[in-house]
Amino acid sequence: MLKPLMAGNWKMNTTIRTGADLVLKLRDLLKGVEDVDIVIAPPFTSIYHLSHLVADSRIKLAGQNMSWEKNGAYTGEVSAEMLLDAGCRHVIIGHSERREYFKESDSDVNKKTLAALRGGLRPIICVGERLEEKESGNTLQTVKRQVTGALDKLRPGAVKEITIAYEPVWAIGTGKVASPQEAEEVHIAIRELLFEMFGPDVKDVRIIYGGSVKPDNIDSLMAQPNIDGALVGGASLKAEDFARIVGFKPA
Ligand code: 13P
Repeated sequence: MLKPLMAGNWKMNTTIRTGADLVLKLRDLLKGVEDVDIVIAPPFTSIYHLSHLVADSRIKLAGQNMSWEKNGAYTGEVSAEMLLDAGCRHVIIGHSERREYFKESDSDVNKKTLAALRGGLRPIICVGERLEEKESGNTLQTVKRQVTGALDKLRPGAVKEITIAYEPVWAIGTGKVASPQEAEEVHIAIRELLFEMFGPDVKDVRIIYGGSVKPDNIDSLMAQPNIDGALVGGASLKAEDFARIVGFKPA
């Protein structure tokens, strides 16, 4: 089994102060946890301050998005170098909210993935089908297109640095979680595709699940052999809930 990765995506929530409160609580609650990689993705404006609060803990920081450009006249954008400088080691790329509200394409996600790797960040690449794609039986086709697109031109050796987050869009923020079997089936398909694309190196690539992950469903999700962790939205804003998710007990 791969070392699980539990990531909290705070989205556009928290100020520096409320984020700091949350991190301090988390640090306390997570003291005894070992053998799990823990990542939180706060808003850009809080990252640097929080980097000091997590410095002597197991919690690592991620950006929620980044530009594929290195620097220059791109008003409102944030580069890989800036994220690294502020204290991030990871970056979430291609979240469905970016794809939907900000029209990010598979090719944008690919450019960001390559730029993140070039810049020394570990991308957490989000994929997942919308409800209409699920209902028309196109889940695997959609997810495979997104994975193939995101990883175009990736050096084979770099695949070890990535994480794929399978987040069915219909499960995000809706309280409707994919069943463990449904998620497992997609994770297996992603793993097989990665193997076809990159060969044996992919055995170390974590495929994590996101979409209404809560303390009461994490154990059954983590009991699936191909679910290597979770990307948590709403529940990551409550210290006790996120700590319970991180300290899952596979059923
Ligand atoms: P929820 O856990 O709130 O459904 O959000 C999932 C998500 O989008 C994480 O990136």
